[in-house]
Amino acid sequence: MNKWTKVVGAVAAAAMLLPLSACGGSRDTSSGDTKDASEVNIGISMPEQMLERWKIDGSNLKKQLEGYGYKVTLQYADGKTDLQTSQIQNMANNGMDYVVVASIDGTSTGAACEQAQQNGAKIIAYDRLIMNTDAVDYYATFSLEEVGKMQGEYIEKALGLKDGAKGPFNVELMAGSPTDNNAGYYFKGAWSVLGKYYDSGVLQAKSGKVPKSADDWQSIGIDNWDRQKAQNEMENRINSFYNDGTKLDAVLAQNDAEALGTVNAVEGAGWDYYPVITGQDAEKANVQAIVKGKQSMTVYKDTRELAKATAQMIKDLVDGKTPEAKDTFNNGTKDVPSQLLTPVSVDKDNLEKILVDGGYITAEDAGL
Ligand code: BGC
Repeated sequence: MNKWTKVVGAVAAAAMLLPLSACGGSRDTSSGDTKDASEVNIGISMPEQMLERWKIDGSNLKKQLEGYGYKVTLQYADGKTDLQTSQIQNMANNGMDYVVVASIDGTSTGAACEQAQQNGAKIIAYDRLIMNTDAVDYYATFSLEEVGKMQGEYIEKALGLKDGAKGPFNVELMAGSPTDNNAGYYFKGAWSVLGKYYDSGVLQAKSGKVPKSADDWQSIGIDNWDRQKAQNEMENRINSFYNDGTKLDAVLAQNDAEALGTVNAVEGAGWDYYPVITGQDAEKANVQAIVKGKQSMTVYKDTRELAKATAQMIKDLVDGKTPEAKDTFNNGTKDVPSQLLTPVSVDKDNLEKILVDGGYITAEDAGL
């Protein structure tokens, strides 16, 4: 083909597209057909409802998308991977145009997403990436390593490590669920700050549960990020290593469920102090625990913004535009175009300003 036929071809192709784009209104370009907003079907698959955050994510996302006039089906999978797979398969069979998935286990949702993709759906990974498959078009989440970095930096500052405090300080470490792709990034972020202090002996864990490197994070993972499992783990460590008056200076808890489990274990031990305890999600009970001085900090991720960004991605696709996705995450098979939102470190000093004035929680619910 010479240069001229290429140009003619391109002009002809553009002209063929004209009638479609000229007709206005919402248009679903995934199948090349014109669709009214009310004909756009969206399935949302959320992992569980134990944490408030997933309830808030689900209802906000549904509300946003319905606000654009789309039809939305929202399902929760109870923390069961099989249930999540069958829910996504049903969405595929029901001809959803878009499927949004917050995977319980990102390595097990791929096959069902492939089915949805073959049936014409576009797939958006929400908060957690869908792994080892081509069947994921976009990903919306928060800067994952930054979350862990904020937790690590909080401990670093609270113990005066940057100012040269020699310790040794006793800091126990827990990572997230071994099946959650996010959890590796969270630990990597925390380890980028704390790792060097374990190497130099300024930090130590009496339990010996310190991974050899960030890649070994699963060895200290808590299955399903389960609060009770985190509590049991910390009770065991406290009973075995800290019940003789040995001070526990800090605990890296990587989300608020693990933080609450830690607070419970510490209270069970009957100490007259709380160690520095980190967290993530700004769950209501944890915000109250921060106000009461039981938990030190949480990493706040405004899930309203994540829902908004995801809904906007879908709207852009429906309207035939390219969604904003400046970053990429590799899922083992492809680089997935991704949008990363910014987390915020919250403790008792900025809690009211960020969470209450920001409308995420009322002063009453925060216990202020
Ligand atoms: C999420 C966290 C959440 C955890 C447990 C992670 O993938 O990013 O916000 O605390 O899962 O549900």
